[in-house]
Amino acid sequence: MTQRIAVIPGDGIGPEVARIGVRVLESLGLPLQFDWFDFGADRYLRDRTTLPAGFMDTLRREYAAIYFGAVGDPRVPGNEHAKGILLAMRFELDLYINLRPCILIDDRLSPLKGKGREHLKFVVFRENTEGLYTGTGGVLRQGTADEVAQEVEINTRKGVERILEAAFAYAQQRGLRRVCMADKANVLVFGHGLWRRTFAEVARRHPGIEAKAMYVDALAMDLIRQPEAYEVIVTNNLFGDILTDLGAALTGGLGIAASGNIHPGRVSLFEPVHGSAPDIASQGKANPLAMVLSGALMLEHLGHRREAQRLSGAVEEQVRSGARTPDLVPLLGGPASTTEQVGNELLARVSAAP
Ligand SMILES: NC(=O)c1ccc[n+]([C@@H]2O[C@H](COP(=O)([O-])OP(=O)(O)OC[C@H]3O[C@@H](n4cnc5c(N)ncnc54)[C@H](O)[C@@H]3O)[C@@H](O)[C@H]2O)c1
Repeated sequence: MTQRIAVIPGDGIGPEVARIGVRVLESLGLPLQFDWFDFGADRYLRDRTTLPAGFMDTLRREYAAIYFGAVGDPRVPGNEHAKGILLAMRFELDLYINLRPCILIDDRLSPLKGKGREHLKFVVFRENTEGLYTGTGGVLRQGTADEVAQEVEINTRKGVERILEAAFAYAQQRGLRRVCMADKANVLVFGHGLWRRTFAEVARRHPGIEAKAMYVDALAMDLIRQPEAYEVIVTNNLFGDILTDLGAALTGGLGIAASGNIHPGRVSLFEPVHGSAPDIASQGKANPLAMVLSGALMLEHLGHRREAQRLSGAVEEQVRSGARTPDLVPLLGGPASTTEQVGNELLARVSAAP
């Protein structure tokens, strides 16, 4: 049966990398149908549309996945359209798992002395619908010397349990042995106390897996010192946001960092970790590999594991010996190529792969 994919390229470099991502996915010959949507800053500035009424229902009913570029445009300084597009989908579609693999695909991409591919292969499960990102809070006496601003962290038993369970299930399915939870339970005793108690319970259901809870500051330090000690990391929205940027920096940078926003069994969204990069938009400098690797995560979610591996393998080969965009030149050396050149080479590699 054909699976329909909603493609939302968005702003800045989003359309440049989405074009390549879709061409590569199409070349696999799978029964996938790609429908393009123009939601982003241009559309928002034209008619104030973020997502049209009913679109969320259409996604739930008719689509298997969303393949997303990036949103963010200097002409919309408050980023209202991004809230109405990306955050709205994450929350309303209840995409509670933000999955971010931090896997080194070439030793030369590692900024850590003596750490290579065998040391850097952890995956982060970031809670994606709660924490400090729900917009709960307010400001009192704004603009006065007595101003008070509050940002409330939401932690629900259900929300915490399901992300922890997802992390353990992932480890179990892939034969991994270690799950580490990052929190700050020594200071945030109520919310993160809930995380600790729930973690202990969920860990008991997975006796074959070594479960460790760590304070996030200690983990940030240890990820630099001995990243090989970590296989699956699970944490809340804010800490996950920060740790995964660290993870991206350890494994080659934003140009190759991929992510999924997932609700198992439901329509889910796959996007590069990077934003719309207005500083390099329309210059042919954007690295399309993060978008392509996000496509591989999407294929896994859709049940096409073999094709997902074919894509990841082609990206590895491309990094090892192919053309590269300027962001990778300081790490890999050689001359810089354009987004299009990298895309074309990658397409040839995927087509040639068995
Ligand atoms: N998921 C999203 O859509 C998302 C995520 C982050 C930021 N944003 C938005 O994007 C806009 C720009 O934000 P920013 O500059 O902080 O982050 P960014 O990720 O867009 O860019 C950060 C830096 O990384 C570089 N970079 C990013 N992606 C690259 C790629 N594929 N190839 C080569 N270089 C790349 C950029 O040139 C820039 O120097 C803002 O409006 C922000 O709100 C959107």
